[in-house]
Amino acid sequence: MVQPVNLDQFLAQQVESEHSQALTSMLGDIAFACKRIATAINTGAITGNMGSLASENIQGEVQKALDIITNDIFVEANQTSGYVAAMASEEIDDIIEVAEKYRQKGNYLLVFDPLDGSSNVNVNISVGTIFSVLKSANSHPVLADFLQTGTAQICAGYALYGTSTMLVFTTGKGVNGFTLDAEAGEFYLTHANMQIAADTQEFAVNMSNYRFWQEPVQRYVDECLLGADGEREKDFNMRWVASMVAEVHRILVRGGVFMYPLDTKLPAKAGKLRLMYEANPMSFIVEQAGGASSSGIQRILDIQPTGLHQRVPVMMGSRNEVERLIAYHQLDADNQSF
Ligand code: AHG
Ligand code: MN
Ligand code: MN
Repeated sequence: MVQPVNLDQFLAQQVESEHSQALTSMLGDIAFACKRIATAINTGAITGNMGSLASENIQGEVQKALDIITNDIFVEANQTSGYVAAMASEEIDDIIEVAEKYRQKGNYLLVFDPLDGSSNVNVNISVGTIFSVLKSANSHPVLADFLQTGTAQICAGYALYGTSTMLVFTTGKGVNGFTLDAEAGEFYLTHANMQIAADTQEFAVNMSNYRFWQEPVQRYVDECLLGADGEREKDFNMRWVASMVAEVHRILVRGGVFMYPLDTKLPAKAGKLRLMYEANPMSFIVEQAGGASSSGIQRILDIQPTGLHQRVPVMMGSRNEVERLIAYHQLDADNQSF
């Protein structure tokens, strides 16, 4: 049997770049955090941490005990490398400053969703952690230093706590997936150079929001539902896990399109998913795997953020399906201009 490559060996083999030392150190800390998070989730029912708290986060969502526990694990594991100058989390209103003594080696920013899909955590369905690495122009970063487009990301990835724990990331040179051997405490490269098929017959969307969507998304989904009897001339399958990480991982493995479009259910929110720690890192990964990602009217990675917690409509995955969705939005805009 060929000896599998572990995460440290993989990182040591990467081509030298201006960020490689920093990324090797930071990805080691992120991997450590994800191992600890996997344990916290796996044992949550035993330690009595599966419930909700009385608190809400800045998005007005009731926090679960594990939202906070996983946030704290991620912050603690990543604050002492010397490379991370500040962090931002879904669960914390403002940016998280790193102590001066730990800011000696670099000005990197780490933005993360510590527990994605937290509504699934107490029903034993897959959840994840999403992260994005940016570089700050400033050695003492302030909020404005975080507000960079997704194209500025140096690294993005996720951990999936599913039937196995996986770490999947990109540093802009393709996408690689590692599986945790929990006994050895090591991540091993199991999914090298992940690629998303350009075509698919599978879509993922929360259908209960159908009546709140805009016409282009309704049209796209209507055509999928008509299947072989409609203009697509092929049947489609549907999945909805309600954990973006699990959804995107499935798409990386077997293709598909994932949507959380704009809806009028909560008009104050421009979609549900957050640009900086959900849409941007996942878009970077999807594009690096040959897929596409759009809000319907703009490439997600080109959107200029105006706030840490801003939301954005998301449609990502198999390139030809995302391009079809973009075309339907374009047609709609053209019709509206007459
Ligand atoms: P989070 O648990 O970090 O708030 O994210 C949940 C997100 C995402 O993972 C998922 O795609 C979506 O919310 C599910 O939303 P619905 O419950 O509306 O289906
Ligand atoms: Mn999330
Ligand atoms: Mn979350």
